[in-house]
Amino acid sequence: KTVNVILSGGVGSRLWPLSRKTRPKQYLPIFEGHTLFQKTALRNKSFCDQVIVVGNCDNYELSRKDLDEAGVKSYSEIIEACPRNTAAAIAFAAFAAQPEDILFVTPSDHLIVDEGLYSSAVSRATELAKEGYIVTFGLKPTKPETGYGYIESAGEEVKSFREKPDLQTALAFLEQGNFYWNSGMFCFKAGVYLEELRQLEPEVFQASKEAYEGAESGKLDFDLSMKIPSISVDYAVMERTKKIKVVPSLFQWSDMGSFESIYEYLEQTGHPKDELGNMVIGTSIHTEFTGLTNTILIQTPDAILVLRKENAQEVKKIYERLEKER
Ligand code: GDD
Ligand code: MG
Repeated sequence: KTVNVILSGGVGSRLWPLSRKTRPKQYLPIFEGHTLFQKTALRNKSFCDQVIVVGNCDNYELSRKDLDEAGVKSYSEIIEACPRNTAAAIAFAAFAAQPEDILFVTPSDHLIVDEGLYSSAVSRATELAKEGYIVTFGLKPTKPETGYGYIESAGEEVKSFREKPDLQTALAFLEQGNFYWNSGMFCFKAGVYLEELRQLEPEVFQASKEAYEGAESGKLDFDLSMKIPSISVDYAVMERTKKIKVVPSLFQWSDMGSFESIYEYLEQTGHPKDELGNMVIGTSIHTEFTGLTNTILIQTPDAILVLRKENAQEVKKIYERLEKER
């Protein structure tokens, strides 16, 4: 069977102050009345027999509400005591599934248009996963984004996978032309993933297994979880596995990961900005900009953030500093 593993553990630190620990960005109902989490579940409903949500203890109730509203009946949850990153989060779902189950792993914070193209990419990925491959989805890069993974490809073959390159490297990749962006969605058999993880990151494998086995009614134990090295699946598996394939994909995709992507999305949907590209989010208070270009002002009831669009990746640092000071 095919299982949609929805990863929902990120705090969305690059979208502070819109995104908060108690309501991360994937639960904000700002996309035609739906949340991104809900849109994810709805999009995958027809390909998958079952859903496993891997999320954290602060937001599983939000996930439940979204799934109920989306009419998804058969789901189970793995509730993390603390985020240990995606290599472990996916491992928990793989332990919960049968080795032959196809896991279709999706983030919960993406926007995808062109459902027809999406569905043909997913069915090709499922075919390859059945043959034992670890499948990624390659999207055509449009700028030297440093927050993504890059896949060097020859058709469905992957020559190399490189997570979050620096700007110079990203520029070189774009120039070379045979690189895709990694979508952040993956498809593989549960057993194949676990075997690769065991070989490539034995410590992550072992500690995740112990944490999973020590869970009580779907809730992981804090101390056991803290023993898991925090590493993303991209570094842990994708950069190193020889079983990797890519499905070149044409659907329109957007990672609502930073204010730059939110800005671009809002721009397309007609949200106002001034002639120098300045934009206000979250308030209708009259706001003017002078001497500034491409500046975004975000207001929430208890915080204001002002940034240049180009510095969107740095919001994470603010979030981390505030967390430390708390
Ligand atoms: N359950 C759980 N636990 N989920 C997690 C955790 C965790 O500890 N950490 C992250 N996630 C979830 C996030 O909520 C998100 O849905 C997904 O996993 C990916 O994490 P991000 O933190 O958003 O990763 P990224 O955007 O930096 O990079 C990934 O996505 C890019 C495309 O959006 C990589 O796969 C890149 O290669 C890719 O290009
Ligand atoms: Mg992301």
